[in-house]
Amino acid sequence: MVDIKNVVVVGAGQMGHGIAQMSLLAGYNVTLVDINDDFVNKGWSKIDEGMKKLETKGSLPEGATAAGLMANCKKSSNLASAVKDADIMIEAVVEKMDVKKQVFKTAGDNAPANCILASNTSTMSITDIGKDSGRPDKCIGMHFFNPVPLMRLIEVIHSNNSSDDSVNKGIEFAETIPCLRGKRYVPKVLKDRPGFICNRVTAPAQIYQNYVFDKAAAEGLSWDQLDNDGLGGPMSMTVLADYVGIDVLYHGQMYYSQTLSPDFAPGKVITQMFNEGNLGAKTGQGFRDWTKGRPSPDKSAGKAKLYQLKYPLAIMLNEACRVLEEGIATSWKVIDDTLMAGMNMPGPMASNQKTYQRQVDVLEELVELTGKEYFKPCEMLKSGKWVEMK
Ligand code: 3HC
Repeated sequence: MVDIKNVVVVGAGQMGHGIAQMSLLAGYNVTLVDINDDFVNKGWSKIDEGMKKLETKGSLPEGATAAGLMANCKKSSNLASAVKDADIMIEAVVEKMDVKKQVFKTAGDNAPANCILASNTSTMSITDIGKDSGRPDKCIGMHFFNPVPLMRLIEVIHSNNSSDDSVNKGIEFAETIPCLRGKRYVPKVLKDRPGFICNRVTAPAQIYQNYVFDKAAAEGLSWDQLDNDGLGGPMSMTVLADYVGIDVLYHGQMYYSQTLSPDFAPGKVITQMFNEGNLGAKTGQGFRDWTKGRPSPDKSAGKAKLYQLKYPLAIMLNEACRVLEEGIATSWKVIDDTLMAGMNMPGPMASNQKTYQRQVDVLEELVELTGKEYFKPCEMLKSGKWVEMK
C-alpha cells in the first residue's frame, strides 16, 4: 500500500467531489476544500448522497458504512491549514492558470515537505502550474475523467520538473482509487504537453464541432437534429458538451489556441453560451435544459446531415499520431486503451492499421472544407511508422 493517509482535494465541484468520494472509498482520510463553506457543504452533501446510494445497494467496502466513511471527510475553506498534514493534494479548481498557480503556491508553502501536489487540469502545463510551489519535483498531473466514479481513466503526468519518485507515487496512489465500473487504467503521460493523451487526441475534433455548431446555428437547425447525426460515443454531441461543461470547453479551447494552433479558438456558439453563463449541466442550461435531469435528443426531429463521423475519426487518428510523434506516449495501444477508459469509446488506432492512407485523403478534404490548417495529416500518420509502435 502506498505511503499515503491524508488526501486533500481542492475544489468541491463535479470533479473534486468525485475524486474525494472515491478517495474515501479507498480508505483515505480526506479534507474537501473550497473557497467558501457553501461550496464545500454542497460538495460534501453530494458525496454523502453517493455513499448512501452505495450503502442501500450493499456496494460499500466490507464492514464500511456511509456515516463511517463520511466521518473521514473533513471540510475546510482554508487551504493553508487544510494541507498541514497532507500526504497528497489534488487540485480540481477552475481551469485558470493564475488560480491553479496560487493553489500550488499556498499548498507548497504550508504542506509537509514530502507532500505530493497533483493537478487535475484538463489541458494545462503541470510544469507552469507547479513553478512557484517551491517543490516542482513533487508536482505532477493526476487527470481524472467525468464522472470520476464511473470513468476508469486516471492519467498521471510527468512534468518537466517532476521526479520519477513523485510520478511513481502518483501512479501507485491512483491505482488504489476504486471505480464503480471496472478496474482503473493509469497510463503514465511521458511529456507535459497540452491535453496530455485523451483530451489531446479528442481536442481537434472540437475545432470541427465548433464549425458544425456555428453552421447549424446559422442555418437554423436544431440541436436535436444535430445530435441525431450521431457522435459515435455513449452520449450525443450537445449532451456531452454540456456534461463536460461549456466553461471547461471554452477555457480548454482558449488554452489550445495559445499553445497548439489558433484554429482551436472557441466558436461563436460556445463563446456566446460561455458569456451568458449557460455552462451546461452544472448551471441547468447549456445547449440543453438540464433542470429535469439528463436530457435525451428527440429522435423524431430528423437529422441535420451536417456532422460527418468520418471527419472526427480521421482527426483523432491524426492527433494520436502527433501524440506518438511528440513522445507523449510511445505505444498506440496505450492511446487506444486510454480513450476507452476515459470516454468509453474505441481509440482510433487499432482499426486503422491497414486503412490509414484513406484517412490522409479525408483530412485533406477537411482542410478544403473548413480552411483549418491544423487538420493537415502529420508525417507520422503519412509514413505509417506509427503502426510499428505497439
Ligand atoms: N455514487 C454512487 N453511485 C453512483 C455515483 C456516485 N457518485 N455516480 C453514479 N452512480 C451510480 C448511479 O446511481 C447508477 O446506479 P444504478 O445503475 O443503480 O441506477 C450507476 O452508477 C450508473 O450511473 P448512470 O445511470 O448515470 O450511468 P449510465 O449508464 O447512464 O452511464 C456515463 C453514464 C458513464 C457517464 C456514460 O454516459 C458515458 O460513458 N458517457 C461518456 C462520458 C465521457 O465521455 N466522459 C469523459 C468526458 S471528458 C473529461 O472528463 C475530461 C475532462 O478533462 C474534462
